[in-house]
Amino acid sequence: MKSFKKSEDYLARAERTIPLGSQTFSKSRTQFPYGVSPYFVTHARGSRVWDVDGNEYIDFINALCSVTLGHQDPDVTQAVRAQLDEGVIFSLPHTIEAEVAELICEMVPCAESVRFGKNGSDATAGAIRLARAFTGRDHVAVCGYHGWQDWYIGSTARNRGVPGVTRALTHTFTYNDLGSLRALLEKSPGGFAAVILEPMNTTMPEPGFLQGVKDLAQGHGALTVFDETITGFRYANGGAQELFGVTPDLATFGKGLANGYPVSALAGRRDVMKLMEEIFFSFTFGGEALSLAAARATLQKLRSHDVVGTLRARGERIIAGTRELIERHDIGDLLSIVGQPAWSFLIFRDVAGTSQWASKTLFMQEVIQRGILSFGSHNLSYAHSEADIERLLAVYGEVFPLLRAAAFDGRMNELLRCKPLEPLFRVR
Ligand SMILES: Cc1ncc(COP(=O)(O)O)c(C=O)c1O
Repeated sequence: MKSFKKSEDYLARAERTIPLGSQTFSKSRTQFPYGVSPYFVTHARGSRVWDVDGNEYIDFINALCSVTLGHQDPDVTQAVRAQLDEGVIFSLPHTIEAEVAELICEMVPCAESVRFGKNGSDATAGAIRLARAFTGRDHVAVCGYHGWQDWYIGSTARNRGVPGVTRALTHTFTYNDLGSLRALLEKSPGGFAAVILEPMNTTMPEPGFLQGVKDLAQGHGALTVFDETITGFRYANGGAQELFGVTPDLATFGKGLANGYPVSALAGRRDVMKLMEEIFFSFTFGGEALSLAAARATLQKLRSHDVVGTLRARGERIIAGTRELIERHDIGDLLSIVGQPAWSFLIFRDVAGTSQWASKTLFMQEVIQRGILSFGSHNLSYAHSEADIERLLAVYGEVFPLLRAAAFDGRMNELLRCKPLEPLFRVR
């Protein structure tokens, strides 16, 4: 049985000086059931990560999808080391900024001009401010997750601290439901600056949906923004917009751009982006060169190696293998697998007497115990080998019967060794 004693001791120590003991909600104890999860890592390499208790895992979280090539990819590490010798941050822009912007413009269909940020939230907030300045309107329509800032998070259940006046400007619509977007836009004619959406997360776009979003937005004089923070450089080298053949006015990128180094990007139509010169989107660490060196190495590797094709092939094996196991263990009422091969999700459902949260917690308890770090999604990296995928499926082969026994034979209390996770905050 794995021990998590050091993780738990560090958590107690961290919580004395750090609220929640984590800088990122999705890495906090709210997402990892206490008693059966690690909380702190020492190092990671390739597809593997080690916790402070010395336990080794195949990492299917991959720093929340930000590691596309694998932990410590040698080409990226070498590029960062070389840049470190030149300097990290300067009093004037560094030439690498234009080089990475040019690469993005070559790879991404909508990109004619680019600005960099650090987090995905910088890019999405920049996109919305830019769209508001460009259209002279205030309202935005959103679909998916777009980051921590007021303009978006006010529309979720975690909206404490966001002024009501800000919340009133953001409206959610439903994925694959053009009627829900149309209704919003028609309610405030001439009011919407932008329609922003994740072009895909769990569900495939129905034929015509993404083009329909663009047409509706355009018909109402609003800009279309694809939030490709995750899909960018993961679904295809040109992102979901390339894969699905719909080019937005603006797009945002983050995770996936630099194999885990902190840089994000807002890219899009030249005439719209030109207005960036007039609005304020400016921060001390914009243009920080280590992350841009990592971005250049990552983008070059995406072009020189079949990273995207490999992620797709490995992911297709996971989806097919998991479906087969769901069928074999007859747990289709409880569990399904959805999403794109490079970023797929297990969806847990309530069944009579058993909540989806209890099932998900039991799943995490059992896969973590077997050396798989996962909260139910498959965030693939180029470092995942075929053997890693077969190991994942072998673990699922052992864990799915337990899920079945817990949900359908009334054995949850006996099998679960911790308190179930709580439904705190869900955006997908
Ligand atoms: C689609 C999407 N947009 C925006 C963000 C925000 O990015 P960050 O957490 O880097 O600010 C995320 C992060 O999970 C995301 O998945």
